[in-house]
Amino acid sequence: MKYLFFINLKVEGNTKVDYAMGMRVIIIYESKYGNTKRVAEAIAEGLNEVGGVETSVMELKELDLNDIFNYDVILIGSPNHIGGPTRGIKGFIDKLSELELEEKMFAVFDTYLGKDFEKAVKKMEKQIAEKVPKLKRVAQGLSIKVNGLRGPIADRELEKCREFGKNIAVELKAD
Ligand SMILES: Cc1cc2nc3c(=O)[nH]c(=O)nc-3n(C[C@H](O)[C@H](O)[C@H](O)COP(=O)(O)O)c2cc1C
Repeated sequence: MKYLFFINLKVEGNTKVDYAMGMRVIIIYESKYGNTKRVAEAIAEGLNEVGGVETSVMELKELDLNDIFNYDVILIGSPNHIGGPTRGIKGFIDKLSELELEEKMFAVFDTYLGKDFEKAVKKMEKQIAEKVPKLKRVAQGLSIKVNGLRGPIADRELEKCREFGKNIAVELKAD
């Protein structure tokens, strides 16, 4: 497996312990009212349930762009704002195109109201395909319904988020 590496630690005299380190996943999101943040956290729960991956969840404004080089997989989440991702997330994808990102993977997710299922997801996937074609899609985008401008997240949608995370972890282990 290409991405699996081992840390060999010497502890307590001559006892050696090998730790298998899996893929490093970063989940980056913007969230005005906290719903997309909750989706990001539920995806992380799913990833961690399967294990074999290291997961960080981070709001876009906290991200130092160069930290991206420390991760193998970038998951990007945005609320749908006027039929597409936020300006911040669009700008972030544009900035990714300026980095030399070899061998990295991505998937996207959005939150939406009413009839805009997958609208922001499709726009993010299109923007990434056009601007950062080196990024390989690890999963089809996830679109999560909220029941009002401020939420809450609709019934049973969080289960989909955990499932999305689990499926990605399984996919990464199989790679
Ligand atoms: C400025 C603005 C524009 C929005 N436009 C849309 C839209 O076009 N379609 C849609 O489905 N939801 C739209 N929404 C609803 C958001 O998708 C919803 O508030 C969001 O999913 C909540 O996520 P958050 O708590 O992470 O901010 C809009 C919300 C805001 C604040």
